[in-house]
Amino acid sequence: MAQFSCRWRNVFICVCTPCLCMLLLFFYAGIVMCMRMKGVKAPWTPENPQFVAPGISEHKGFAPIPKAFWRNELHQDAFWNQLQLDVDRSLNPILRPSATKRGLKGSKFSFLLRQSFSEAKKQENMKKIFHNLPPHIQRFVNYMQRRTYPIVLQPDGECGAQAKEEKQPPLILFAIKTEELNFKNRQAIRQTWGRAGWVAGQKRNGSAEEEVGGYVRRVFLLGKENPDDLGVNISELLRMENEHYGDILQWDFDDTFSNLTLKDVLFWRWFSRSRCPTVFVFKGDDDVFVNTPNLITYLWDQLVTLQANKTLKDFMVGDVIAAAAPNREDKSKYFIPESFYSGRYPRYAGGGGVVYSSLLAKRLNLISKRVHLYPIDDVYVGMCMLQLNAFPVHHPAFLTFDFPGEEEKQPCSYHKILLVHKRNPEHTVRLWSDLKQTQTQCKDVSLRVDVKKKNISKP
Ligand SMILES: *[C@@H]1O[C@H](CO)[C@@H](O)[C@H](O)[C@H]1NC(C)=O
Ligand SMILES: *[C@@H]1O[C@H](CO)[C@@H](O)[C@H](O)[C@H]1NC(C)=O
Ligand SMILES: *[C@@H]1O[C@H](CO)[C@@H](O)[C@H](O)[C@H]1NC(C)=O
Ligand SMILES: *[C@@H]1O[C@H](CO)[C@@H](O)[C@H](O)[C@H]1NC(C)=O
Ligand SMILES: *[C@@H]1O[C@H](CO)[C@@H](O)[C@H](O)[C@H]1NC(C)=O
Repeated sequence: MAQFSCRWRNVFICVCTPCLCMLLLFFYAGIVMCMRMKGVKAPWTPENPQFVAPGISEHKGFAPIPKAFWRNELHQDAFWNQLQLDVDRSLNPILRPSATKRGLKGSKFSFLLRQSFSEAKKQENMKKIFHNLPPHIQRFVNYMQRRTYPIVLQPDGECGAQAKEEKQPPLILFAIKTEELNFKNRQAIRQTWGRAGWVAGQKRNGSAEEEVGGYVRRVFLLGKENPDDLGVNISELLRMENEHYGDILQWDFDDTFSNLTLKDVLFWRWFSRSRCPTVFVFKGDDDVFVNTPNLITYLWDQLVTLQANKTLKDFMVGDVIAAAAPNREDKSKYFIPESFYSGRYPRYAGGGGVVYSSLLAKRLNLISKRVHLYPIDDVYVGMCMLQLNAFPVHHPAFLTFDFPGEEEKQPCSYHKILLVHKRNPEHTVRLWSDLKQTQTQCKDVSLRVDVKKKNISKP
């Protein structure tokens, strides 16, 4: 009897073990696939209508939606796509498992960029494309490999202008793109929405009784004005300005439109090396108006859920533009010819003003080493986000294209927003004092919601 049961046990083990193994394998594969799918959100949906990148007046410039994005030949005639495909291919974990592991150490990525670039220079078709690019894109390409520029001026603290006795780490660091000559813009920001120190959040009915607030810090990001265009040397003045306010971060590159991407990349690097303990980073222009008290309350509300969901490392919020086609009008400053970039842009947050977590800033710093520079800064940030498989969140209170219609004239309109573009320094100062004066009268309003979105969900 004992022998009999023993034999059956052997048969049982022989037949069932492989079955069990297969079952477990299927189970595992299923779970992995489900997790993958959950991570990827559709970049284009019918609710996100087609959008053409800023500066275009007609809609005929829509790029066709690529039917199969993995087919190389679709991008063969576009300079940037070819360069980036080369990098992506050498980092593809399926094609080159060992290279990816080695590359993940960080600084090795920049080597890949250089390699793809020097290989491209040898290829005949890339040479031909390059010679047919418009001059301003050629100028960009000539410098697109270079990312190290010396720092000319930097704040003395670890993250920009600060308050005297800060009792907590800062909640937000305002990093503001500006130019040497825009002293007036900087001064208006220092006196209004960008004032460093403790800022109380906007009180709301619904939210908790206790007052929320946070410390704000500020740093201005600058390149250098071309001295030939300027005629005079104002670097001494800027040095004095930094001595007085301690909020200038300047690098030694020409402050041109195509070079704006360098401000993102170099800021991420500077930020990652500094030991700035801020929770959030704001990156925006010097001609926007920010409702800082609203922003503080909004970020506090977010912080609770973000930490609970462990999504703080992916957090970016702004005016999100989905599935935009590159601007193909050659008179625009956003003009990108088909021979430089083909296809649509990834989902990106308009560069007028965007807020992200400091964790994300550090991840962007690393990932940017495997993405070739692009002459439009906010699109470039979107490209890096795509590589991180992170997507910016849209909030209708970021008005990077100003108020729609007559909405600005409504009472309390500025109490319903987080940011509006664009406002000059005089207007900014006036708006800030209005905001203070109407505080009690407008304390019951809530942040604006998307009118368009509401209508779509009705039918
Ligand atoms: C501008 O002035 C600063 C000091 O005042 C000097 O170090 C710098 O070389 C000057 N730049 C040019 C282009 O002359
Ligand atoms: C970017 O800055 C570098 C360094 O100053 C300059 O040589 C280059 O021409 C600039 N690029 C563009 C596209 O203006
Ligand atoms: C985040 O967590 C909150 C509850 O803490 C939940 O209501 C919300 O749906 C979650 N969001 C995401 C994107 O998972
Ligand atoms: C806030 O409370 C007031 C009454 O105290 C009420 O009229 C108003 O609707 C509330 N607002 C919000 C946004 O809940
Ligand atoms: C949405 O609907 C409201 C009325 O319900 C209308 O006044 C408004 O113009 C609509 N907005 C759009 C963008 O269609």
